[in-house]
This record gives sequence, structure tokens and C-alpha cells, in this order.
Amino acid sequence: MRAWRFHEPGNIANLVLEEVDTPPLNIGEALVRLECAALNPADRYLVQGQYPRAGAPPFTPGRDGAGTVVEVGPDSRFTPGDKVCLLGGGLTGVSLPGTLAEYAPLPEAWLAPIPDAWTFEQAATTLTSLTAWRALEICGGLQSNDTVLVTGASGGVGVAAVFLAKALGARIVALSRSAEKRKNLIALGADAAIDTESSTLEKEVRAAAGDQPISLVIENLGGPYLEKSVRMVAPEGRIMVIGLLADLTATVTIGLLIHKNIRIQGMSVNNFKAKEAQDAWTKIVDLYNANHHRPPISQVFPFAQVQEAFAHLQAGPMGKVLVRCSA
Ligand SMILES: NC(=O)c1ccc[n+]([C@@H]2O[C@H](COP(=O)([O-])OP(=O)(O)OC[C@H]3O[C@@H](n4cnc5c(N)ncnc54)[C@H](OP(=O)(O)O)[C@@H]3O)[C@@H](O)[C@H]2O)c1
Repeated sequence: MRAWRFHEPGNIANLVLEEVDTPPLNIGEALVRLECAALNPADRYLVQGQYPRAGAPPFTPGRDGAGTVVEVGPDSRFTPGDKVCLLGGGLTGVSLPGTLAEYAPLPEAWLAPIPDAWTFEQAATTLTSLTAWRALEICGGLQSNDTVLVTGASGGVGVAAVFLAKALGARIVALSRSAEKRKNLIALGADAAIDTESSTLEKEVRAAAGDQPISLVIENLGGPYLEKSVRMVAPEGRIMVIGLLADLTATVTIGLLIHKNIRIQGMSVNNFKAKEAQDAWTKIVDLYNANHHRPPISQVFPFAQVQEAFAHLQAGPMGKVLVRCSA
């Protein structure tokens, strides 16, 4: 089979397409012929040697995907021919072989049937919705009277956060550097969309929030945006730190944290247990279905164009970036 692998950490160009043996099935795994895999910025960090608990090279990244079961072990709850998606959040693509391959042995505890009337592409986007759900619901304690600021709102996590927060009744202020994507975010349900790089960002966000100030921030960018979020969030507000696209480190004004009684919390989708992720995914799918909506997909690339797909991801997508693993 063909798989993308890197033999030593370094530049993303170290990720190369190779002919490899199909990995053997371990107990509790099902062999899945992948139709689609999704890219995450964390895959790049992993190839660069910056991701904790990463598997030893040669290693295949890819943390979510969808395909068809072709082989199962004893006592499996799946049957060859079942269409399944992988709930990103487990160790697949971190320390276990990932989904940027034609076949992958995937842990059954992290597999779910593809929801009715969902395509392989739509079902290959699980990680970002699970991340947004964990940030909003589980760690952020979202209430329907919250006003949520989503930074980096056009990305995979951002669009999921905008949709899910809106579906749960909150108001949303979304940030994007692109005028076209800001229009798309309003169409997706954001109540306001503001230029991330505006010199009057804080004033504009406060004006957009009006008499219901920002109470919860989904912080995808980090770096200088963390301090801006501290300034923009209301007293008693919560800031869920998910990403670090703008910088790995940040400086915050401690006095503001103290006087505004703000909670800043880091959170990782990898803190899900399998059962908890399965339950969350069921609720997420119900919300998408009830709202006649599906996770937005930025672009689907052919299997040979994984490098182009990573370039598209780095340039700033509008939704999820996918790779078609089948010919
Ligand atoms: N904690 C977790 O469990 C977890 C899980 C998944 C992802 N993450 C992290 O969360 C972050 C977001 O992930 P994602 O999948 O949504 O990323 P993504 O798809 O690459 O999108 C992020 C968006 O942020 C904006 N952006 C990117 N770089 C920027 C910069 N330097 N300055 C300002 N805006 C910038 C872009 O929007 P515009 O071009 O529209 O401005 C882009 O569309 C990443 O750091 C990722 O590693 C964490």
C-alpha cells in the first residue's frame, strides 16, 4: 500500500510518499481502507519534531479519517464493509500509525459508524468538532447567554466552534484576516465578523458584543492574541487556549487576570477518553443534523498532493483540509 511517512523530524518536505507493507492488526483494531484523511496543523508540528508523545520514525501522521472496514479481529463490533470514521483525539497519528495512508489499523474504541446521509469527506472532519465541543461545552461550560469570541474562526476548529456555539444558542463574534471569509463566517452563523489584524480590534469587538460582552473566548491563535483576548473578555470570563498559530509564547498582564477574575485554561482534544469522545460525537452529529448543516470543507486534495494540502492549510483555509486516500 502507499503511505506518507517521514524518516526523521524536520521540515514538512521530509514527509514522502512510499510503498510500505500494510501494518498488522493488533487486538482491538480494525483494518480500514481509507477514503479520506483530514489535515491538522498538529501534523506539521509532529513532522517538525515539536509534538509530545510522537511515534518513532518512520512514521505516518494523520489523526482523523473515514473509510471502509476490510478486516476485523475476534469479537469485533464491526463487519467488513462497514463505513466508519475515526474520532480524532486518540493516539492514531500521534504515536500509532496515522490516516495519511491507503489502509490503517485503527482502534475500534475510537471508530464510529459514518452518520446516515454523511459523506466520507464530511465524516473525516471529526477532530475539529470534538476539539470545539471540548472547549465550548466540557471545559468552557457554555451557556446559551454567552457571547463567544472565536479567533482564527475560519479554520477547522474555528468553523466548528462557530457552528456548535450558535447551535447551542450563544452569540458569536468571529475573527478572520480575510474579508471574503468574514462574509462566510456570517453565513455560517456568526453575529459579527471582524478583521483579526484591525488596529481597532478591541474597540470593534466590544462594539459588536454590545450589552452582552464577550464571556468565553475560543483562542486558536495564541501569541499576541492571548493578551488581546484578556483585554476583550468581560470580568469573570473564560479563555480556552486551543492553538498557537500566531506564536508559541505569550505575555499577559497579570493585573488584568486578577482584577477581572479571568480563567485562562489550556485544553487538548487528546484528553478525551474514547467513551467520552463517542458520546460527544453523537451529540455533535445530532446538532449538525438538526440544523441541516455539515462541517465545511475548504478543499479536497488528491493523495499525491499532501504537500500542496499542507501549503493550503498553512495559507489559511475556510474549513477543513482533506486528502482523498483512495485512487
Ligand atoms: N488543543 C487541541 O486539542 C487542538 C486540536 C485541534 C487543533 N488545535 C490547534 O488549534 C489551532 C487551530 O487549528 P485549526 O485546525 O483550526 O487551524 P487552521 O485550519 O489552520 O485555521 C486557523 C485559522 O487561523 C488563522 N490564522 C492562521 N495563522 C494566523 C496568524 N499567524 N495570525 C492570525 N491568524 C492566523 C487563519 O484564518 P484567516 O486566514 O481567516 O485569518 C486560519 O484559517 C492550531 O494551532 C492547531 O494546532 C488544537
